[in-house]
Amino acid sequence: MILKKIKDKIFDLPLLFNTIRYILVGGKSRLNKEIFDAIKPKEDEKILDIGCGTCEFSELINSKYIGIDLNKSFLKKAKKKFPDRILMEMDAKNINFGKKSFDKILMMNFLHHFSDEDCKIILNEAKMVLKNKIVIEDNIIPTKGFINKLLVKLDRGDYIRTKDQEIDLVKEFFKIGEIKTFKSGFYEFIVIIGHK
Ligand SMILES: C[S@@+](CC[C@H](N)C(=O)[O-])C[C@H]1O[C@@H](n2cnc3c(N)ncnc32)[C@H](O)[C@@H]1O
Repeated sequence: MILKKIKDKIFDLPLLFNTIRYILVGGKSRLNKEIFDAIKPKEDEKILDIGCGTCEFSELINSKYIGIDLNKSFLKKAKKKFPDRILMEMDAKNINFGKKSFDKILMMNFLHHFSDEDCKIILNEAKMVLKNKIVIEDNIIPTKGFINKLLVKLDRGDYIRTKDQEIDLVKEFFKIGEIKTFKSGFYEFIVIIGHK
C-alpha cells in the first residue's frame, strides 16, 4: 500500500516518469521504431492516442493527433511540449467521440494498468470510435532475466500479462493482424495490430 503510494507520487511527475522509463527501456530508439512501423501514419489520417500520458510518441506522427488521458499534470506537460496537438482529459472507459471518428487508435504502455474486465470496457469503447486499425503496444511478462522480472513486480501497472494473455484479450474485439514481440532495455514488449 505504502509502496503503491510512493510509486504513484514518483510516476505522476512527468519528468521523472519519462526519465526513469528512458533509462529502463534503454533509450527510445527501438520502441519508437517498432511503434512507427506499426502505425504507418499518414498526413490525412485522424489518430486517437488513448492514455497518451505526456504524448512522447506523438513526435512520430504527422497525422491529425488527438490524445486523451486522465492525468492533468501529464496533459499539461504534453500541451507545453506539443502545443499543436489536441489533448483532452477523458476516461478511456467512457470515450466521448462519435462512432468511427478515427482512422487509427493507439494504446501504448496502457492495458497493463487494467484488469481484464476494465480492458474489455476500454477495448469496446475503442472499437466504437475506430474506423480502421488499432495499434496496441504493451510490456509483457519477461521470459527471462532477474532484473526484468523484478521490474514487472515493481511496475505501477498491476496487470502485466503474458504474450498469449494479451493477444486473447485483444482478439475478442479486433481481427488480429501482425504481432511482434521484442526486447528493449530491461523490458519485453508486444505490438499487436488489430483491425475492425
Ligand atoms: C504508463 S502511462 C503510458 C502513457 C503513454 N501512452 C506512453 O506510452 O508514454 C499510462 C497512462 O494511462 C493513463 N490512464 C490511466 N487510466 C486512464 C483512464 N481510465 N483513461 C485515460 N487514461 C488513463 C495514465 O494517466 C497514464 O498517462
